[in-house]
Amino acid sequence: MSLLPKPHGGELVQAFDPLFDLSQITKELEIDAVALSDLELIATGLFSPLRGFLGQDDYESVVANMRLADHTVWSIPVTLPVTYETAKSLQVGEQMKLVFDQEVYGVITVSEWYEPDLDKEALRVYQTKELAHPGVKRLYERGSVYVAGPIKLVKKPEKGIFSDAWLEPRETRALFEEKGWRTVVGFQTRNPIHRAHEYIQKAALETVDGLFVNPLIGETKSDDIPADVRLKSYRVLLENYYPADRVQLGVYPAAMRYAGPREAIFHAIARKNFGCTHFIVGRDHAGVGNYYGTYDAQLIFNVFSEEELGIKPLFFENSFYCNRCEGMASDKTCPHNQEDRVILSGTKVREMLRSGTLPPSTFSRKEVIEVLIEGMKELKTV
Ligand code: ADX
Repeated sequence: MSLLPKPHGGELVQAFDPLFDLSQITKELEIDAVALSDLELIATGLFSPLRGFLGQDDYESVVANMRLADHTVWSIPVTLPVTYETAKSLQVGEQMKLVFDQEVYGVITVSEWYEPDLDKEALRVYQTKELAHPGVKRLYERGSVYVAGPIKLVKKPEKGIFSDAWLEPRETRALFEEKGWRTVVGFQTRNPIHRAHEYIQKAALETVDGLFVNPLIGETKSDDIPADVRLKSYRVLLENYYPADRVQLGVYPAAMRYAGPREAIFHAIARKNFGCTHFIVGRDHAGVGNYYGTYDAQLIFNVFSEEELGIKPLFFENSFYCNRCEGMASDKTCPHNQEDRVILSGTKVREMLRSGTLPPSTFSRKEVIEVLIEGMKELKTV
């Protein structure tokens, strides 16, 4: 019997059907890159128990209480926005092809459509209405009517250079079983892995059987380091500094919401669906700017019981290299002053790389820096 956690809601949703008969469906709905990614992740079970884009009852319940209407924990609305023009032509019960870049990727059976209160969604989910927040900006830009209904994925988007790291939940679950891991800790990141990340991953790995390094490669804000460059940096780091039999790399193909605490819950649930038993939450998880408190994304886990979440969060303090300790440390373990510490953050690494300054090896491994500098050069020449 498997010791891995059951998927959220009890069952891994599987809604990929490449043989689905599209011949009778005439209407098409143009979707954006975020919706395409949501479509695929619903269909492959990463967003279990969702079977489609949220209807109004579920949506309002998620926004207000971080739960679906049936009380299941769910913290981020997964919705399909359209314009008023499009909404006028919709009919309940009809099927529509979901089209991205002139390709049909899925089908939705329209169950309803509704006008969301976007201000309320912004304030509840992101804790701000400011357009300077990238998640809020996207929310207001995407459309003001939400279409709901169950979906089918009929074609999977091309994976390109990510193909060998693009594992679906049913695959990661089988892999973890095969490796004999009874406990697996998931790690979310949208940045290159710097020394603080490595430190908290390895500290977590000391107490579990396996580490699932699961970088987000969906839509991010424009100044985040592109996913393909990051992927190269993850590979070189893993090759040089991680034990191959204890670590698995796999991408998390979702869009980044930058919703801080609420996204930490969402991230944990997705990793549970991948089969993880534990999930790392460090400083300002999924945060942006100063919108959230440093440890808000840890405190939010107090709202839910461990049983209803079904995955155990592992919390880490702000970590850094300390010159006097001569090693990685955190506020919890290091007695020295700020001046002794090399403070690490993704934002700082990005700034240094852009200005051509090499971060020290106490900041980031040299193999990683080399890959990033190369990647940045290529970007500049495009
Ligand atoms: S995130 O948006 O994906 O959370 P990032 O890739 O920087 O951003 O962080 C990945 C994970 O590492 C998150 O759990 C975050 O809280 C944690 N983390 C990042 N930097 C540090 C640090 N210096 N100390 C402790 N935890 C950190």
